[in-house]
Amino acid sequence: MEDKKIEEIHRPQTNQAPPPKGGGGGGKGISVFAPATVANVVCGFDVLGFAVNEPGDEVIMRLTGKPGISISKITGDNGRLPMDPAKNTVSVSVRHYLDGIGRSDIGLDIELHKKMPIGSGLGSSSASTVAGLFAIKTLLGDESDPVKLLPSAMKGEEMACGHGHADNVAPALLGGFVLIRSYEPLDIVRLPHPEGLFCAIVFPEVDVPTREARQIIRNKINMKDAVTQWGNIAGLVSGLFMNDIDLIGRSMKDILVEPVRSMLIPDFYKMREMAMELGAVSFGISGSGPSVFSFTRDEETAKKITQKLQRHLADLLIGSQAYVSTINDKGPRVLG
Ligand code: HSE
Repeated sequence: MEDKKIEEIHRPQTNQAPPPKGGGGGGKGISVFAPATVANVVCGFDVLGFAVNEPGDEVIMRLTGKPGISISKITGDNGRLPMDPAKNTVSVSVRHYLDGIGRSDIGLDIELHKKMPIGSGLGSSSASTVAGLFAIKTLLGDESDPVKLLPSAMKGEEMACGHGHADNVAPALLGGFVLIRSYEPLDIVRLPHPEGLFCAIVFPEVDVPTREARQIIRNKINMKDAVTQWGNIAGLVSGLFMNDIDLIGRSMKDILVEPVRSMLIPDFYKMREMAMELGAVSFGISGSGPSVFSFTRDEETAKKITQKLQRHLADLLIGSQAYVSTINDKGPRVLG
């Protein structure tokens, strides 16, 4: 299969999509869904991520026919997200894209429908951003490789949490499992994964903003730890190529970030013990947390894990949300 082959994509000089044909008229609308993502994948801080089938966000976008970007509605955010187009990640990234293709004249209106928790470690801002970018790309009939939207999507991440990492936006945009081989220049590699790998996600309802979760990480690491970590990253990537689920499992260990961030997650190590006892292949933090996830070999095990962890969190009087999904190879999709 073509998308199972390793593929290198180099950063365009600018955000160069071909100038779209038409698209300036008023009234035309589109609805786009973009998926949640699990970034880091335990050992690959800022360089690995994959998309899941649910949850995700929906953006409805209409061309207005007069220049300027407006946000007319945001739902599902409990009033937490800015309606100001200069401060919202969706409009900021869409503005970056339009300026990059020389179409600053385009006018559009955005409705954002949050269908996933904010500050969950599941790439909430990136799902919104990618839905917005995919919507404008589709509305303008821009058929260039979606990877060209990445610099604009990273602008949205920068606005959301102060750092333009790509390990959420890249898999949300491209689907599947993605490696950010390099940030400068941007070099994205689509990775294969074993068929039938399931992902069990539990979001304990405590707030862990990515901005803060990044601030508590060590800036310097010693060589011994670095050797352990890059051995694990290479092991995980090899396991993905070799369909070796045992190798994937034993490589998904993080000695750099998890020891610090796990302190922000209620009963993290107890939850790990429970998941592994139930047959999980791996267990770790999704993105910057507080969501945790396990890979499993089947759906039933994934469901057992989410049920047990949710019951445990309920005993601690902590609400939670759970999702069981395969890896989403498609990325964003037009709903109508
Ligand atoms: N790689 C980022 C981090 C992902 O861990 O901070 C944020 O979801």
